[in-house]
Parts: sequence; C-alpha cells; structure tokens
Amino acid sequence: MLRKLYFRLSPGGRRVARRIYYLPKDIICRLFLKTDNLVPPKGMTFVGSGNFALIGDKFFKHILDTTNINSNEKILDIGCGIGRIARPFAGFLSSEGLYQGFDIIDYGINWCKRNYKRYPNFVFDLFPLKNDLYNLSTGAKAEEFEFPYEQNKFGLAILISVFTHMQKEEVENYLRQISRVLKPGGYCYASFFLLNSGDKSDFFCYDYGEYHLHDLKVKNANVAYDTDFITNTAKKSGLLLQNRFEGWWRTGYRQDSVDFQDIMIFKKE
Ligand SMILES: C[S@@+](CC[C@H](N)C(=O)[O-])C[C@H]1O[C@@H](n2cnc3c(N)ncnc32)[C@H](O)[C@@H]1O
Repeated sequence: MLRKLYFRLSPGGRRVARRIYYLPKDIICRLFLKTDNLVPPKGMTFVGSGNFALIGDKFFKHILDTTNINSNEKILDIGCGIGRIARPFAGFLSSEGLYQGFDIIDYGINWCKRNYKRYPNFVFDLFPLKNDLYNLSTGAKAEEFEFPYEQNKFGLAILISVFTHMQKEEVENYLRQISRVLKPGGYCYASFFLLNSGDKSDFFCYDYGEYHLHDLKVKNANVAYDTDFITNTAKKSGLLLQNRFEGWWRTGYRQDSVDFQDIMIFKKE
C-alpha cells in the first residue's frame, strides 16, 4: 500500500519526501558520526533500501569472484545511480583502470562528480532519457539510445537493479549496446527479476509473457522478465550466459542468495 502511494508521487516528489523523512537522521550523522565521503546522506539515496556501503561491497566481492577482471580493467556501470557500486571500485582500480558510470538523472551524477574529484579515472556521464519511475523531464527514448563509447572498449559492464526498471524494447537495445562496447571475452554482470514460463507472481501480477509488470500506471516501477527471453535476447546480441544466481525475492530465504534480485553473468563471444 505504502509502496503504491510512493509510486504515485512524481520522481521529484519522491526525492523531496525522502530528503525530509531522513533529514533528522542525516543531520545527526553529519554532526556526530565519522562519515565515509563516498556514502551519500540517507535522504539522497534513491537506489533502494538497506546499507549503502554493505550492499555495494557485497556486489563488488561477488563481481570479483565471478569474473576474472583485474585492477587495470575498464568498467562501465550502467545506471550508476549515486555511486553505490563505484565506491568499492575506488579502492581497487589502478591508475591504468577506468570506471565509467552513466545514468539518466542528474541528481546522483552531480553528487558523484563532486565527491569523486580525488579519483581522476572515475568518470560520470549524464544521458537524460525517459523512464516513468525516474525521469519524466524528457521524451528521449532508451530503446533508441546509442551508447557514446567506442566498440570493444570495456572489460566489464555492470547493471545492478537497472533492467528491473526497463521496458522490453529498452532491454533489447541495451543488450545490443553492451555487446558492442564490450571487448571479446568481456563480462556483463546484471541483476533481474526472472520468472520461468508458466510462473505466477502476486507481485508481478500483469503478465505479458516475455515480461511481467507490477504497476500499470508506472510501468518502469518494477519489471520481471522471462528467463528464456533474456537468455535468448542476450545470445542474439553476442552475449552468452555463463552463470546465474537466484535472488531471495521469490522465496524470502536470504541465506543462500547474493542479493534480493537474480543475477546473470554473460560473456561476449
Ligand atoms: C535502483 S537504481 C540502482 C542504481 C545503481 N545501479 C545501484 O545499484 O546503486 C536504478 C538506476 O537505474 C537508472 N536508470 C533507469 N533507466 C535507465 C536507463 N535507461 N539507462 C541508464 N540508467 C537508467 C535510474 O536512474 C537509477 O539510478
């Protein structure tokens, strides 16, 4: 119920509500606690609940465990938000390495630009594109967006909780773009809500076969995909599924899962 109400606010309205709700806590933290410069105030953290630093660290460790990237790698963080995944990479990448993050809203990108000044090989790009959860200020379409990066540039593309907010045609385009900018043998590490054909979900109650929506009024709010649809679409783009980890969103059992969402790791042929 609260979630539905929250989604009914405009993206700007949600931002203001969050800022006001967490303001007392943020003021106390700022005045009395030693804070990590790469962790934004809670009221600015629009990328999901939970501990910002712990979640970023956990993904970082899993990425290192499941891909063979090294500290000289060039990494593309798609939908980088407010730097949750950038932060652990700041202590890892050498001066030869590159972290390139992009997002469709200025809020997190501006914060990252201000707070990563000490890291010259960390670059944050803003590409304003329409998303009915995050950005209504433009009509520019993600399904037509061509990543402005040269082909075969990156060794790893990361999308944490981004495909879960994208429509089918957008996902298809992004998988093509990712394949183009990854070098052969490069990895794509991405989280999803995955359903198998015939699965029913109370949360994703609007079933369109290849995808399932949670909310018809805010379609990008939460999107689940059919596992075969993602695997086949990625394959058509030249990205082969290497590994899959189930999230705990379906069962509620956290113990065996890396994250709430499912994770897929692809490798460019
Ligand atoms: C739940 S947040 C996750 C942010 C970040 N990946 C993290 O794990 O902290 C989803 C992010 O995806 C971004 N996003 C949504 N549609 C996008 C698109 N078409 N291209 C790039 N980013 C997008 C949103 O602006 C938002 O920052």
